[in-house]
Amino acid sequence: MASLRSNTAARVVLPSARRLARVPSQPLRSVEDFRDRILRGDCIEQLKSLPNASVDLVFADPPYNLQLEGALNRPDQSLVDAVDDDWDKFSSFADYDAFTKAWLTEAQRVMKPNATLWVIGSYHNIFRVGAIMQDLGFWILNDVIWRKANPMPNFRGRRFTNAHETMIWASRNASSKGYTFHYDALKAANEDTQVRSDWYLPLCTGGERLKNSKGSKVHPTQKPEQLLARVILSSSNPGDVILDPFFGTGTTGATAKRLGRHFIGIERDADYANAASARIAAVEPLDDTSLVIVPTKRSEPRIPFSALIEAGLIAPGVELVDAKRRFRAKIKADGSLVLGPATGSIHKIGALAQGLPACNGWSFWHIEKGDDLIVIDTLRQDIRASMPAD
Ligand SMILES: C[S@@+](CC[C@H](N)C(=O)[O-])C[C@H]1O[C@@H](n2cnc3c(N)ncnc32)[C@H](O)[C@@H]1O
Repeated sequence: MASLRSNTAARVVLPSARRLARVPSQPLRSVEDFRDRILRGDCIEQLKSLPNASVDLVFADPPYNLQLEGALNRPDQSLVDAVDDDWDKFSSFADYDAFTKAWLTEAQRVMKPNATLWVIGSYHNIFRVGAIMQDLGFWILNDVIWRKANPMPNFRGRRFTNAHETMIWASRNASSKGYTFHYDALKAANEDTQVRSDWYLPLCTGGERLKNSKGSKVHPTQKPEQLLARVILSSSNPGDVILDPFFGTGTTGATAKRLGRHFIGIERDADYANAASARIAAVEPLDDTSLVIVPTKRSEPRIPFSALIEAGLIAPGVELVDAKRRFRAKIKADGSLVLGPATGSIHKIGALAQGLPACNGWSFWHIEKGDDLIVIDTLRQDIRASMPAD
């Protein structure tokens, strides 16, 4: 998949807090009122103000609940820049679980029926989050491993290098239908090979990493835009609304804007929210033509075999043959095929001819044009091409 170059300045000038969107005191009703805004405050409270079934995708990077005990030093005694912020502290696992259940419940409520949710975490929290998701009825589609190209070493040498984070990707519930997954576009951009569930990507460093005026990191866990780009491109469409309830420095918002999607961010820390706002303001969206998605086979209009007869592309009574001309089946006026005593669809008769449980009749059967054979899928594509665009 093409990597996405960041145009984010390394040092951000923090805007005044007044420039940030605030939640008005009057209840807002439509999702348009929240689009492309950072809602400041506790995510559970802010999520409650969003309408039901209003967002297309959720990306959540919640507190890890790292439970760090004491400072961590490198062998040269320099201090490791670990996540020891207040936002990551919980009094117990039960406390963390209650928090997780509360925000996931609200996230599930605001998801459209066909929306999906991604949660990223480490071994400290991801198993608890995954179990709670299943308890709430989310339907897990994949767990994706982000394998870090440049992980932090294990300084004490007492464990393996912790070199990955896990993302759980889930639909709203087991019966959710029609969620977005750009299978064909992803495969086409991956040397025509299915994209695997282990993604090898670097940490967020260099020019993309936001620094304050003293040169220190603005946020300890800023995620790489490349990771978010892969999430967004695989499971959303241009124009979709993507919610991130733990917005931090706005990696989701910056990437969503660049890729022609809308975002809703929630962040309770004013410094992070300010940094996110400045970062997103500097992003130039890609032009619309670069965002067109290759249609998946499933999203193409369904053409029954009988449409080829109705369109005059094949006549009843003609025989279809396989690529090696071993089998011949006669076409009936209703679009079924006859092979010996058997009658059925192009798929059923193709399977029967080969003694297989299933067959794609569109690629199995051909019409004869002199010595040449034309696979019937070509005729189906001709009909599709002649249909007016949506
Ligand atoms: C792991 S960081 C997310 C980093 C972000 N993905 C990025 O790339 O910058 C989690 C963020 O959630 C925020 N946070 C934690 N608890 C929160 C809560 N209850 N409501 C809103 N934000 C919260 C923290 O301030 C922190 O910025």
